[in-house]
Amino acid sequence: MDRKRLLFVDDEPMVLKGLQRSLRGMRREWDMVFMGSGREALDAMQRESFDVVISDMRMPEMDGAQLLEVVKADHPHVVRIILSGQLDREMTLKSVRLAHQLLSKPCEAAVLRDALARTFALNRILAHEGLKKVVAQIDALPSMPAMCMEVMEAVQGPEASIQKVADIIARDLGMAAKILQMVNSAFFGLCRRVTDIRDAVVLLGLDAIRSLVLSVNVFSAFNKANLSCLDFDGLWDHSLAAGGYARQVMRSAEQPPEAVNAAFMAGMLHDIGKLILAVNFGDAYRSVFDVSPEDTRPAWAREQALFGASHAEIGAYLMGLWGLETELLAAIAFHHDPARSRVGVFGPVAAVHLADRFEREMRPGSALVIGDDDYLQTIGVGGQVEAWRQACADLQGEAS
Ligand SMILES: [Fe+2]
Ligand SMILES: [Fe+2]
Repeated sequence: MDRKRLLFVDDEPMVLKGLQRSLRGMRREWDMVFMGSGREALDAMQRESFDVVISDMRMPEMDGAQLLEVVKADHPHVVRIILSGQLDREMTLKSVRLAHQLLSKPCEAAVLRDALARTFALNRILAHEGLKKVVAQIDALPSMPAMCMEVMEAVQGPEASIQKVADIIARDLGMAAKILQMVNSAFFGLCRRVTDIRDAVVLLGLDAIRSLVLSVNVFSAFNKANLSCLDFDGLWDHSLAAGGYARQVMRSAEQPPEAVNAAFMAGMLHDIGKLILAVNFGDAYRSVFDVSPEDTRPAWAREQALFGASHAEIGAYLMGLWGLETELLAAIAFHHDPARSRVGVFGPVAAVHLADRFEREMRPGSALVIGDDDYLQTIGVGGQVEAWRQACADLQGEAS
């Protein structure tokens, strides 16, 4: 494995010394460079290349936000992490827009090592350098216009309720992903990873959510006319149903509640890469759907041929940069071909694969959907698929 190059930026020499000391054990795997100002950091980046920048927020002359703004524009492949002490609301919002992850200072070496190791592990999900660059520049995903309006109204009313706000956010892919990024930033001091939107909204609190909703560019509605290459309503319906089916399959298999939640969220976000492709490669992406009748490959195989990766890996990579749970990432990345995950037991990977397939099968007029039955046999659940399909069909029957 090639060595990773890390650039730490902080105006306080003591902090840099502390970091250097606590990360000494990583010297064999990482090259670490320590700089005392944004200016010096940018100079260093002109001279040599880095994989990650870990910056303080409050610094004289150029603060962390200004530094990361330049890094994002000039060195888009670099992963951006803020490592900071107390931030006021405005600074937190700025950070969450510019940084992939926020860590709070003082930060335990283990937390920092863990965050960095997770980031480097993402190279296994998406190796394509060009796509990594595109994805690393994404700071927010577009939301359904109607849901943006709804959430806006919900946070501003005199009787704003956490429950109501959480319900709206849980129905929108862009907002749900962003809230999970925020709540999973070590910045908020939680020791566990959160996969449940309701928990996330409660933990962040109504004030933080209100600032997020009201700040520009964090939750923004997409313009359907500009993104005509994708059927957004269809994507939203498919994603919400797949989330529900993944949860149903996990419950039927009597899995523990955290795993059930992870599968639900992964089911909901499994096709989020389609949103990334539509927003960033609109015209090229359109050609994935304009196919001759002889081309029988599934759309994801055509994406792979065209872009070098499919929406599955692209979506998982962004969710990973945003600090989401590893189990969730595998379920997103391998929802078409679960065997590649090398996960040998039943869990969210298999549940999301099945949920995606069940949703498409149950759509009126759908063609035969082929799933990876060999994989399901290998992990020993082949005999239960029929019962799970029925459980999901019952769920759909209740909903309609
Ligand atoms: Fe998919
Ligand atoms: Fe799907």
